Amino acid sequence: MQDVMAQRVRQLSAGIFAELAQRKRQALQRGVDVIDLSIGSPDLPPPSWVMEELAESVRDPSQYGYTVAPSADFLNAVAGFYEQRYGVTLDPKRQVIQVMGSQEGLTHLAWAVLNPGDLVLVPDPGYPIYDASVRLAGGEVYPMALRPENGYLPNLAEIPDEIARRARMMILNYPGNPLPVLGTEAFFEAVVQFAKRHDLVVVHDFAYSELVFDGRRAPSFLSVPGAMDVGIESNSLSKTFSMAGCRIGYMVGNERVLSALATLRSHIDFGVFSPIQRAAVRALQSPAETFHHQARRYQERRDALVQGFAEAGWPIASPPATMFAWAPIPVPGSAADFAMDLMEQTGVAVTPGEAFGSRGEGYVRIALVQPVPRLREAARRVGEYLKARR
Ligand SMILES: Cc1ncc(COP(=O)(O)O)c(C=O)c1O
Repeated sequence: MQDVMAQRVRQLSAGIFAELAQRKRQALQRGVDVIDLSIGSPDLPPPSWVMEELAESVRDPSQYGYTVAPSADFLNAVAGFYEQRYGVTLDPKRQVIQVMGSQEGLTHLAWAVLNPGDLVLVPDPGYPIYDASVRLAGGEVYPMALRPENGYLPNLAEIPDEIARRARMMILNYPGNPLPVLGTEAFFEAVVQFAKRHDLVVVHDFAYSELVFDGRRAPSFLSVPGAMDVGIESNSLSKTFSMAGCRIGYMVGNERVLSALATLRSHIDFGVFSPIQRAAVRALQSPAETFHHQARRYQERRDALVQGFAEAGWPIASPPATMFAWAPIPVPGSAADFAMDLMEQTGVAVTPGEAFGSRGEGYVRIALVQPVPRLREAARRVGEYLKARR
């Protein structure tokens, strides 16, 4: 058969993730007790009332048709959640749309907004779908460097005028993956001014909006004046309610941007399974204690990781949010070589930073997706590994 892979697919690099997955498989086959800290899939259960709603709904034979459109209950529940959690008022009919997870939403958003050759400002390091979605839509990527000295916020003043003029869209992610830092209202206000000056669409990925520690709160991009004129926020039930496998999320904000996406999606999908929509409604109506409880669980893990790794001779900055730590590698060499060797020698899997862009080189991302005793065990193995290598 002729070569069937289209150029647009061929340009996507699976590189490091594929190699790491293969090494993990091989280690498991050898009987190694792998501690997988490499993926951000939540291991905690959803709230019990969410699972009950889902279980009840799937027994109802009337729930199995195409839903085609999101339920009004879902759209209202998102609007209620945004009002209550972020003080943002949304019109559920015009300023909320449903997607099958933010991954799908972000990918199709690029198709809905970009013309071939359009330039998009994306964070580096950044979550891989930003780069991939732009390339799939025929757009070009301009990486915005996120540096520690600037609190990992892009320095808007250093974006060359000629790039800002050409750019059509900017993607942001606070609290972020892989960089677990919070956005600030002052920064978001500067982004709104920048976007107005250069006629940009701003897309803020807020997937970790409720995974924030030490009593802090993450601001919504839409909470700053003028944000609704220039952009949208993408959010999901995957992390906030540990519903990653349900594939349900939403986008909120600027009506014209959402309408472009809704038009595209109306041609390619027939809606989310009704029991999942119902479970999502119950989730979004959860009492605030639900978020605090979950955040505390991840916070305990964060503390165990940071303390255990420090004792092992690998000091790591304590993340204020998300389910990730971002750590400079503790030995010379490349992060990819380090991650592969750590996996081989100890069974502890972490993700090399270059999987998130060129500025990730020299770092690894460590996911807090294992219970505290497993994180302590990972730290113990890391300690032995470092002793042997130093
Ligand atoms: C920053 C970020 N955005 C989006 C997603 C995708 O989430 P969803 O399950 O809503 O597709 C993830 C998943 O890890 C993520 O880390």
